Amino acid sequence: MSRVMLDLAGVVKSYPGPQGARVPVLKGLSMSLTAGTTSAILGRSGSGKSTLLTILGLLDTPDSGRYVIDGTDTTGLSDRRLAHLRSERIGFVYQRFFLLGHLTAFDNVMAALQHGTPVPRRRRREQVMESLDQVGLADRGHHRPRELSGGEQQRVAIARALVRSPAVVLADEPTGALDERTTEGVLALLLGAARDRGAATALVTHDLQVAAMADRTLHLANGSWLDDQKAADADSHQRPGDQYA
Ligand SMILES: Nc1ncnc2c1ncn2[C@@H]1O[C@H](COP(=O)(O)OP(=O)(O)OP(=O)(O)O)[C@@H](O)[C@H]1O
Ligand SMILES: [Mg+2]
Repeated sequence: MSRVMLDLAGVVKSYPGPQGARVPVLKGLSMSLTAGTTSAILGRSGSGKSTLLTILGLLDTPDSGRYVIDGTDTTGLSDRRLAHLRSERIGFVYQRFFLLGHLTAFDNVMAALQHGTPVPRRRRREQVMESLDQVGLADRGHHRPRELSGGEQQRVAIARALVRSPAVVLADEPTGALDERTTEGVLALLLGAARDRGAATALVTHDLQVAAMADRTLHLANGSWLDDQKAADADSHQRPGDQYA
């Protein structure tokens, strides 16, 4: 049976608009992500993808609705608890890698073990090596980011995201800064490594080829899933007796 790693129910998020009005951005979103699977999230500019990712990443909280990560309901948790949960249970992969330039690949991955529940020193080194090995960079640990190719830098960032075996991996255009030739390999590595560790992955992308590598695709349109919206539109157009026409 597949384990639900992330469960979102009826999440609403709005931002302050002109004259004290609220501008709704997410309009009651629900979704579940199961261990070992990847969901690609597509949607036009302004549809709410980044807003959704900041909520999934516990960087912001919904106005209403429920967000449960691996059995922990995040509603009403303090900022401190949320930060702990974030370092412990969520791995992030960004378009522009965000490696620390003055640290080696090894120390960049190690940095992810510096927050959350402490890991014993020896175990930490092993975990970092396992994670670098998983992305094929066991022999590059001493390199600094500028001594690595773009694809290699993103692989270090993937090792960093996975080193704690998070419940959820969130990737925002993870191949957006890579050339076409590198994209498929890096993405396959990310999805395979996340699956092997039993994480549920959500991936935001504009690239249909990237989306095609996921297990399923979700379309966000104006803060709702497109299929929900289609269903809602169909409902509102339905007239009594239509089904007999
Ligand atoms: N902090 C904020 N304050 C006010 N409005 C915001 C804020 N953040 C986002 N918005 C608005 O919310 C809507 C959704 O923005 P979001 O960044 O989530 O879109 P997106 O799907 O990620 O777009 P893109 O593909 O361009 O990155 C936009 O209309 C945006 O202007
Ligand atoms: Mg965005």
